[in-house]
Amino acid sequence: MAIQKKTEPAAVPQHIGIIMDGNGRWAKKRGLPRTAGHTAGAANFRTITRYAASIGVKYLTLYAFSTENWSRPAEEVSALMKLFHQYLEEALRDFMDENIRVRFIGDISAFSPDLQALIRRVEEASASKTGMVLNLAMNYGGRAEITHAAQVLAQRVRDGALNPEDITEAMLSDALFTAGQPDPDLIIRPSGEKRLSNFLLWQSAYAEFVSFNILWPDFKPRHLDEAIEQFRNRDRRFGGV
Ligand code: FPP
Repeated sequence: MAIQKKTEPAAVPQHIGIIMDGNGRWAKKRGLPRTAGHTAGAANFRTITRYAASIGVKYLTLYAFSTENWSRPAEEVSALMKLFHQYLEEALRDFMDENIRVRFIGDISAFSPDLQALIRRVEEASASKTGMVLNLAMNYGGRAEITHAAQVLAQRVRDGALNPEDITEAMLSDALFTAGQPDPDLIIRPSGEKRLSNFLLWQSAYAEFVSFNILWPDFKPRHLDEAIEQFRNRDRRFGGV
C-alpha cells in the first residue's frame, strides 16, 4: 500500500466535499413548506460553487440527492427534480463562462429521460473546461458505488484478466465514479449532524470532517473560509505519527 507522506496543509484544500443538509429545517423554522427550503438551498448551491472556484478549490463535490432520498414524499422529490432541471439549465448558460467542469457521480439512469439528457449535455458542454471540477452527487450512495466497483473487478476476474490476489486499492479507486480525482481533504456538513450519511465512503478515509450548526441555506462563503481555517489547523497524520 502506498504510504502517504505527512504534508503541511495547503492554503486551500484541493478537494472539498459538502453535504448540503438542513433545507427542510430552514423552511420549517420560517413556517414554509420544505420545498421552499430546497429552493433556498439550490440558490446557495450556486453561491458556494462560485465562491469555491474563486478561491482556488480544484474539486468540489456536493451531495445533492442520495439513493435514500427517493423515499421522501412524492411532492418533495418532484420539487427537487424541478430544481435540478432549473439549475442545470442555468449551469449550461452560466458555468460555461466560468471555467467550471461539471461531472455527475451516482446512478443517473433512475432519473427521467429529460433530466438524463440534460445531465449529459452539461457534462459534454463543460468537458473541455480547465478550472474547478464540480462533482454533483445525484442518486449517489457510497455503498452502491463500492458495490458497483466490486462488480467491475469481479467481471475482470471472471474474464480471466485479473487474479483476485492482484486486486489493489488503486484498482478499486479507479472503478469508482471519482476515478482519477484526488480524495477529498475536507468534508463539511452544515445543519449540526455529525454523520457521513453514505457520502464518499471510500474516498473520505483520511478526510478531515467539519460540522457547522448552521442550516445549508444559511451557509455563507465566510463559513467555507472558517472550515478551511479549521482544516489548516488539523494535524493530518494519515495513520502515521
Ligand atoms: C438535505 O436537506 C438536502 C437535500 C436532500 C437536497 C439538496 C439539494 C439542493 C440544495 C439543490 C441543489 C441543486 C442542484 C442543481 C445540485 P434536508 O431536506 O434533509 O433537510 P432537513 O434535514 O432539515 O430535513
